[in-house]
This record gives sequence, C-alpha cells and structure tokens, in this order.
Amino acid sequence: MTPAESWARFQRHFVEVPAVDLWIDVSRMKFDEALFERMEPSVKRAFDSMEALERGAIANADENRMVGHYWLRSPQKAPRPEWRTEIQKTVERIKAFAAKVHEEGRFSDLLLIGIGGSALGPMLVADALGKPGKDRMNVHFFDNTDPDGIERVLLGLEGRLDKTLVVVTSKSGGTPETYNGMRLAQAAWKRAGLRFAKQAVAITMHGSKMDKLAEADGWLDRFPMFDWVGGRTSVMSAVGLLPAALQGLDIDGLLAGAAACDEATRKRSAHKNPAALLALMWYSATGGRGRKDMVVLPYKDRLLLFSRYLQQLVMESLGKHLDLDRNPVDQGLAVYGNKGSTDQHAYVQQLRDGVNNFFVTFIRVLESGGDPTEVEPGINAGDYLHAFLLGTREALSGNDRESMTITLRRVDARSIGALIALFERAVGLYASLIHINAYHQPGVEAGKKAAAAVLATQSKVAGALAEEGKTAAEIAEAIEAADAAESVFLLLEHLAANGRAKVTEAGAPAARKFARP
Ligand code: PA5
Repeated sequence: MTPAESWARFQRHFVEVPAVDLWIDVSRMKFDEALFERMEPSVKRAFDSMEALERGAIANADENRMVGHYWLRSPQKAPRPEWRTEIQKTVERIKAFAAKVHEEGRFSDLLLIGIGGSALGPMLVADALGKPGKDRMNVHFFDNTDPDGIERVLLGLEGRLDKTLVVVTSKSGGTPETYNGMRLAQAAWKRAGLRFAKQAVAITMHGSKMDKLAEADGWLDRFPMFDWVGGRTSVMSAVGLLPAALQGLDIDGLLAGAAACDEATRKRSAHKNPAALLALMWYSATGGRGRKDMVVLPYKDRLLLFSRYLQQLVMESLGKHLDLDRNPVDQGLAVYGNKGSTDQHAYVQQLRDGVNNFFVTFIRVLESGGDPTEVEPGINAGDYLHAFLLGTREALSGNDRESMTITLRRVDARSIGALIALFERAVGLYASLIHINAYHQPGVEAGKKAAAAVLATQSKVAGALAEEGKTAAEIAEAIEAADAAESVFLLLEHLAANGRAKVTEAGAPAARKFARP
C-alpha cells in the first residue's frame, strides 16, 4: 500500500468516541472493504442479542441468569425497579462507608482478598489510578492460596495490621482460594492480638456462606454482589467501587466513563460502534476461530495490568467447548501482553520477525504526564515512549503484521471506565458472532472438582503412611486407588517437602519409599 492509500484507509477506519476522548484506528488490520457488508446479518443478530440482554433476557442460559453489568452504570436500564434502587443504594452506601473510614482515620491500609473476577478489576483500577503515598489508603492483595505469597504481603503490613481494613470478595462466597486467604488473615490478626471481625468487610451474594459467616461474626459491614453480574464484569459493582472509593479514587468518573462508552457502543452500525468494530476485527483476523492471538500493548506503565485484566475477560468468556446449540466448537481468543516500550526488549522481536500468529492492540495515551525534562534537545522521555509506539506499529505493518490502535487522551477514572466498557461490549458482541455463551465458565469447574478429589486423596495418603517406608504404588494399593500411583507419588513428594512425610529410601519414582515423619 502506498503512503497515500494508507492515509486514506486510516481516515476511512477511524472511529471516535468524543464523549470519552477515545478513538480507534483499525486501518492496519488486513480486512477487505467488503467485510462490513458480508458480516452485516451476523452483526445485526449480535446487536439484537445485546439489546435483548440489556432488556433482561436470560443471556446466560446455561446458568439461567440475566447478565446485567451494563445496568451498574445506567441503573435506569435495569429491568426491575427494585434492582435500580439496589444499585443506587449500594453506590451511596459505598461512598458513605469510605467517607466514614477516611474521617475516622483509623485505617491506613487496605487488604483485598479475592481471586479472578473478584481481584483483577480492583487490581487494574488501583494500579491505573492510584498514586502511591498520596492515596487515602495503601492497597494490598491476597489473590491466591499461596501461603508464601500471603506471608510476603503480611510482611509488608508488619506493625500495621491494627490499621488495616480487610475486604473479602467472593460472589459465590465459597471459593477456596479466597476462603483460605481469609483464614490466614484471621490467623495473622489473632497472632497480633487483634479482632479480625472489627476490621473486616465482605462483598458477596446475599445468603452465601461468606455472607452468613460475616453476619454471624459481626464484621464491620457487608456489601452485595448481584446474581446477574458475573465475576469478570463486576468491577463497576461493589467489587471494584468499594476498594476504589476507599483508596480515594473517583468512582463517579469510572461509572460515567463506562456509561458514556456504553452509549457509544449501542449504535447499530459496525462502522461507528467501536465495540462492534473490535469484534469484527477479531473475527476477520482469526477467521472467527481464534486462529490468531491478541497481543495487548499499552504504552503506559499505568496500564500494565490491563493485558492481564483482558486476558481473563476475553479468555474466560470466549474459551468455550460448545456453542449455543451444544455443538463442539472449541472456541477462544488467546490474549497476552505487558507494556511498551518494555516489551520491545523482549518478545517484540518474535512479533516482528517470527511466527505470524497474532495481531496487536496498541493502546496509546496522548498526554505523557510526568517530568517533561528534555533528554536531548527538543525531546523528552514521553516523546520517546510515543515514538517507540509509532515505530513498532510501523515496523510490524512493514513486515505484514496486523495491528490496531486505541488512543486515549489520558489515563483517568473516566477513560479506564470507558476502556473496560469497550472491551466488555466487544466480548459480548464477538460471542454472538461466534454463537457462544460468554457468561459462564464450565471449564473452571472441572479443575476445581479435580482439586477437591486430589485433597481427598491427600488425606488418605497421609493416613496410610506408616513407620516402615512404602512406595507410592503400595500406598495407592492400600488406599484402594491402585490406578492413582502417579498422583499418590506427587502427593507424597509434596508431603515430604513440607515435613509431613519422610523419604526412607531414595531412588526413581517406583522405588522411592515414604514413611510417617
Ligand atoms: O469471572 C468469574 O466468574 C470468575 O473468575 C470468578 O470471579 C472467580 O472464580 C471468583 O469467584 P468468586 O467471586 O465466586 O469467589
């Protein structure tokens, strides 16, 4: 393509959302101009499904649930009046709770315990909008059941547990990683002679195991998660808003940015609707089959966690075995990324010269921020960052690699709200294009069930250990799990490494013997 043709294509495929100061350029994706016409019937169906979803259809049929994250920022659109009131009341309660905490000045730190959709959104918001040392509270996370990771976070809170407010978030209220994090926090509070309940808040569904526990133990407060909001789209509910308000961030800005982007992405024209445009690009780049990966490259340190956030939003939503008619389709769209220009010194080498199995989504932020000191005559660090983005974009298209660019004026609450809303809608529309349910996660359940079985086996293995050393196969036989010698061996290794079994005879897996410690 000549520079003039490229400039003309850029102008044709430039979509702006003035309400949130965001624009998208897809001209460097390799779609043909007939794509829009060809896909029109499918896009129309996707708009119809999205409208039905927003009106309250059971969009997540597998779980018999409505899908209402859009109502969180436009409560007037919720299909039931009592939900409108509940959304508004929750935001008011969040603001009042945060104001009281700030006024009392009792807490300096905030520990958030949650995983997946109950952690990634708050992490993104805290990192993108926070100002370390200047925020109303310093934020910390337990987002795993790794005791060593938890200890590391607790070390950072040493001497300040009495000043730390804990927010435990779990929609279901029964997620083991979150429950374990809470138990280890309770243990740490007990060791410090403090009453955990007086510093703890729960965000969970009404009546869940955690809700009951928080109520029975007299926790400071409880905030609701709604049945009709999925974990990975819950950042505009109490899940994201309470931590953000406590941190002192602009939650009205987040909601307003998301609402404005929602408005723009309700347009029934793929040419003008940025979310539909993204969905169409994903479709054309991957053949609607996930044949290419999406590399997310924000050139802004504050957006480092955005690729991680999107990885969950996109892959947990689109990675599905069955389509809506229960045909096996093995769908998905792999997402990875980190930040530019840092990645220029890592995997961008492969993007430019290696296997061409991806498209890049650049995120460009116009206002550089920070120190404008010139690093050479007329050029500052922000100019370098911007030049590296444009340079990489150029180098990739020069070698036949596809990319699109999303431009924001600045990173603030409004633009983060808009960016999140943009991708939520793109995921929903794309799911319709490929005819799958984006709102359930049956694959995650399989791993959880298998882990429960492993723990049950571990208890049996520990119980079968004796004075005299036995091999994994002998122990498997003893617990009537002869077929599970491999799992038993792995469990024995774990127990031995943690002082709960001892190795009496070293050797290859079949010969190694284990006994009671
Ligand atoms: O997006 C999702 O639904 C998941 O990632 C959940 O958020 C995650 O499994 C945590 O679930 P819960 O909030 O019930 O503890």
